[in-house]
Amino acid sequence: MAKRILSGVQPSGKLHLGNYFGAIQQHIALQNEGFECFYFIADYHALTTVQDAELLRSYIKGVAIDYLALGLDPEKSVFFRQSDVPEVQELAWMFACVTGMGLLERAHSYKDKIARGIKPCVGLFYYPLLMAADILIYKPQLVPVGQDQIQHVEMTQDMATYFNQTYKCSVFPRPESKMGVAPKVPGTDGEKMSKSYGNTIDLQSDEKKLKKVIMSIKTDSTPVEAPKNPDGDNIFALYSLFANDEEKAALAARYRAGGMGYGDAKKLLLEKVATYFAPYRAKRAELLAKPDYVEDVLREGARKARLVARATLNEAKLACGLA
Ligand code: ADP
Ligand code: TRP
Repeated sequence: MAKRILSGVQPSGKLHLGNYFGAIQQHIALQNEGFECFYFIADYHALTTVQDAELLRSYIKGVAIDYLALGLDPEKSVFFRQSDVPEVQELAWMFACVTGMGLLERAHSYKDKIARGIKPCVGLFYYPLLMAADILIYKPQLVPVGQDQIQHVEMTQDMATYFNQTYKCSVFPRPESKMGVAPKVPGTDGEKMSKSYGNTIDLQSDEKKLKKVIMSIKTDSTPVEAPKNPDGDNIFALYSLFANDEEKAALAARYRAGGMGYGDAKKLLLEKVATYFAPYRAKRAELLAKPDYVEDVLREGARKARLVARATLNEAKLACGLA
């Protein structure tokens, strides 16, 4: 039987290069490699940070269109909105009742958000339980994510074990995480690129916007004439996501030789980003004019996902005495 893949992306802003190279690129590749793929828009999760109905609706629509424009094929992958499968909320509660507080208190993403001054709601703390439920309800073997989500997948593995041990059953198999080619894409400030840090290069930006953002990438103050080190440089790291080995070696040599300013490297990066995502932007414009098609894809995806989710929820209810 084909291995099952499951992943989700939060509609908490516009998609960026980190989302694409850390997660979405492999989501799309895997649908063509014989896996049974389930991908969803994690809108319940986004409620922890987006609390404006119109904005959330526009982000959800944006992520749906983006996935389709980037190559998600609804004939090959089940693609849906998380909130169209409310069964995950019931299952999350069951995990909450077999999981100790200590596990959630160790969550890096929760601690990071607090450290950045985000006022924590209970939902932000509860988030790993919901994530465990929306993974385990589909019983996937693999969960393709970027580095920042690895700990959440490890917590999911723990929760599967807690449930199985508590109720002396084997309802939940242990999923493994799977990282893509670029598990941690740097943002324009050199930190991890993230919607919440304001350092993103967004996929849907037009050339003018791209130029502005790419030209603002933080660099050190090495003068133009001086040799530069490509290792650890943000522009070079981003360029490497698009370039082949020859192109990478050529740019690295120019860095080391001196006489090239960071502005020239930025121009090369701009050209790569604009060219790579041009077909996506064209497809995106087409899909914007077909909202009914996009909605039909999500509804049909939810129908298929719910069949699986209901069956697992019933097993879990039986195991813990609720049915
Ligand atoms: P954000 O941090 O911008 O809110 P999400 O948490 O919605 O992004 O992440 C969606 C997916 O993209 C996850 O699998 C996550 O691991 C991946 N991802 C996000 N940012 C990066 C990054 N800078 N590098 C690699 N992967 C990333
Ligand atoms: N927490 C993930 C993120 O912020 C999104 C997500 C929710 C997810 N549920 C998931 C990812 C299940 C993989 C599997 O990116």
